[in-house]
Amino acid sequence: DGEVFKYYADGEWKKSSSGKSVAIINPTTRKTQYKVQACSQEEVNKVMDSAKSAQKLWAKTPLWKRAELLHKAAAILKEHKAPIAESLVKEIAKPAKDAVTEVVRSGDLVSYCAEEGVRILGEGKFLVSDSFPGNERTKYCLTSKIPLGVILAIPPFNYPVNLAVSKIAPALIAGNSIVLKPPTQGAVSALHMVHCFHLAGFPKGLINCVTGKGSEIGDFLTMHPGVNCISFTGGDTGIAISKKAGMIPLQMELGGKDACIVLEDADLDLVAGNIIKGGFSYSGQRCTAVKVVLVMESVADALVEKVKAKVAKLSVGAPENDCDITPVVSESSANFIEGLVMDAKEKGATFCQEYKREGNLIWPLLLDNVRPDMRIAWEEPFGPVLPLIRINSIEEGIHHCNASNFGLQGCVFTKDINKAIMIGDAMETGTVQINSAPARGPDHFPFQGIKDSGIGSQGITNSINMMTKIKTTVINLP
Ligand code: G3H
Repeated sequence: DGEVFKYYADGEWKKSSSGKSVAIINPTTRKTQYKVQACSQEEVNKVMDSAKSAQKLWAKTPLWKRAELLHKAAAILKEHKAPIAESLVKEIAKPAKDAVTEVVRSGDLVSYCAEEGVRILGEGKFLVSDSFPGNERTKYCLTSKIPLGVILAIPPFNYPVNLAVSKIAPALIAGNSIVLKPPTQGAVSALHMVHCFHLAGFPKGLINCVTGKGSEIGDFLTMHPGVNCISFTGGDTGIAISKKAGMIPLQMELGGKDACIVLEDADLDLVAGNIIKGGFSYSGQRCTAVKVVLVMESVADALVEKVKAKVAKLSVGAPENDCDITPVVSESSANFIEGLVMDAKEKGATFCQEYKREGNLIWPLLLDNVRPDMRIAWEEPFGPVLPLIRINSIEEGIHHCNASNFGLQGCVFTKDINKAIMIGDAMETGTVQINSAPARGPDHFPFQGIKDSGIGSQGITNSINMMTKIKTTVINLP
């Protein structure tokens, strides 16, 4: 009906003076579903100013009060799960049940963050000087954790609510303010989530959400002198951001090519189930999705048969019907995925299912006999297309895993715990899962990537710590 969702700044819902809007295309219908404001640089400047002044007061608000407000926001978020999930279904084609799960998980994350914050921020360190050579006991050093200031949070389309609150809640409990730039696909879900924080009664200007075109406000935001920390999750834009950003702490999570190494003694039913969950949930659009299977040749045929049988059972269709496989986020994404599939076809990969696509909907596909000269052996499809490489030794598997530019997570399936640990240690990834598919959660676990997968570590505790600075006060005794 032409309505344009307002952005949120200084505690109010506002229209942009640019008079422009950005369309959000429903991946299923490929028609405009919603519109959001295209904020201008001038509006970003104003947001930065109010975020800065709100933060000064917030930092003086008692920790228990900050926690109380976060608990309130968490409860409101859960009460609003149905409408938020509905917009997730429309904007990013997340299957209906997973959309609800995302919101509930987000409420839990916010509550846990409040609890963790009161504990870890409520304590500091006390040091005495005479443990260092040459010193008498004449200096007492007190340390505490202080906020950084304004945190710029940029979540990706695949978890516009959960990966927003995983930045917002740690920032707030630690006494920071927030400027959120949601992804365009997912912006309305994010605005609705912000509305829950608004209803909880946070001070004006503490949480802000600007929407708009990356070309207009993207660099302007990330290079803004008012920003004291950037927490970004997404693709290789993050590499560009890290090169342009100022001397501020950065937390980046930029995708992966998570390998699943399968040894001869693995429980193949367990592996097949995890390949389906890991490779195909949300149509493979997760940074932690299984993105390449490296299986020992002697069990490869048996594994492929089991995976094929399970792929055949996946439902394909609309997210409203809670289908397992739903349209990928955009036409350009579908085209990219198709490009990888065609390259693999030309180079002789075995198609375990027929390749099928209608609009943005791509049917699940397992590609057997993938070789290193194929793009899909290395690139991240971010779609329901999974390459399988047959290996003849553990070393070959580790070598393929470590030759990747990415290093987010990986998994290894075997009943031999010694081999599992040995392989896990050898894999150059931030996390290794033994006998399960990669996953970020539970959300208090540390989550980090190496190489092009990112910098810093996330997870609730690490994010709270990352969004603080140590302050020391030294008492000098006579
Ligand atoms: O897409 C990146 C997310 O951090 C993955 O989270 O493992 O819970 O799906 P997940």
